[in-house]
Amino acid sequence: MAVPSRRVTNDELAKTIDTSDEWIRSHTGIGARHIADKDTAASDLGLAAARKTLALAIERGAVGEKSPEELALTLDLIVVGTSTQDYYSHPATACLVQRALGAKNAAAMDITIACSSFIYGLETAAALLKADARRNRALVIGVDLLSRITNWEDRATCILFGDGAGAVLLEKTAAKTVPGGILRTILGADGSGWEYLILRRGGSRNPWKKGEVVEEVPAIAMDGRAVYNFAVKVITETIARIMEEENIALDDLALIVPHQANARIVQAAAKRLKIPEELFYLNIEEYANTSSASIPIALDELNRAGRLKKGDLIITVGFGAGLTYGGNLIRW
Ligand code: UT7
Repeated sequence: MAVPSRRVTNDELAKTIDTSDEWIRSHTGIGARHIADKDTAASDLGLAAARKTLALAIERGAVGEKSPEELALTLDLIVVGTSTQDYYSHPATACLVQRALGAKNAAAMDITIACSSFIYGLETAAALLKADARRNRALVIGVDLLSRITNWEDRATCILFGDGAGAVLLEKTAAKTVPGGILRTILGADGSGWEYLILRRGGSRNPWKKGEVVEEVPAIAMDGRAVYNFAVKVITETIARIMEEENIALDDLALIVPHQANARIVQAAAKRLKIPEELFYLNIEEYANTSSASIPIALDELNRAGRLKKGDLIITVGFGAGLTYGGNLIRW
């Protein structure tokens, strides 16, 4: 994972907008967020997370290569989940990371479905590895700088978001020798909620016009209540479906790693599922909602803290603009 060093507390936000630490904590569970400086873009944070991932794989003896440069050359694919690409539309942020890593043999692509991008990205990478015997390794990065597309005068949205990146290295192994990996993924969408989380300006529907006086900041507009209700519903249903269809009992699960959007969403889903809240990992208090990055950041924290043991069964679950949702069942 990589997060910017600048940490903005709720109290600091309350100096510029009409809000309070008490309101933000009680409605979202957020205590702070990390905000990138003006010279940092998605590929910079994504690259930092990627470099740390390659270094960790070498340090842990998970790969035979001895240097990140050597390891980067073995990558067949780089997938970047992000909605805050360095450049509008193209080039893909994954191409910028590919160049900086020197991963000359890797294909590169972005997945742009807001907060569900990492879950979709993981399944895309796994499927592309399986699809060709010659592909063996993929790097999946989730990175977002939502601070760049946030209206900092809108207290209903700006308190929610933070910047960050996380990454994982996937390697294809023979199923018989290592009974692990991504066992099952559920992906879904409900386009009828397209307007609930939206960046209205700048696309082919509402392009910026020549000579236009830009009064409106290109910022996230959100129907918070509608997204909240959708989130509780799909998180509950996705976890229930994975457990039922894969025949998994509560005792089999080591952890559930949810997208960190609002602690209350997770608590409501836990209650509906009758799953103890403690089974859900939450770090939203420190990072707020980092969109595509929230799940890989959580995975890295858990991994480095020794809380993920080989063989552990975990579920990742999330939702985002679109509206989209999904979940991965993973044998660590
Ligand atoms: O990945 C991105 C996905 N987005 C989300 O996950 C967002 C999902 N939605 C939510 O998390 C919640 O709907 C929010 C946290 C955004 C809002 O919580 P809420 O309990 O739904 O509050 P609300 O919008 O119903 O507003 C309640 C009150 C309003 O005041 P009145 O009308 O009752 O007087 C708001 O104006 O709280 C007020 N309010 C605030 N007060 C202080 C809204 N934002 C703030 C704020 N500080 N930051």
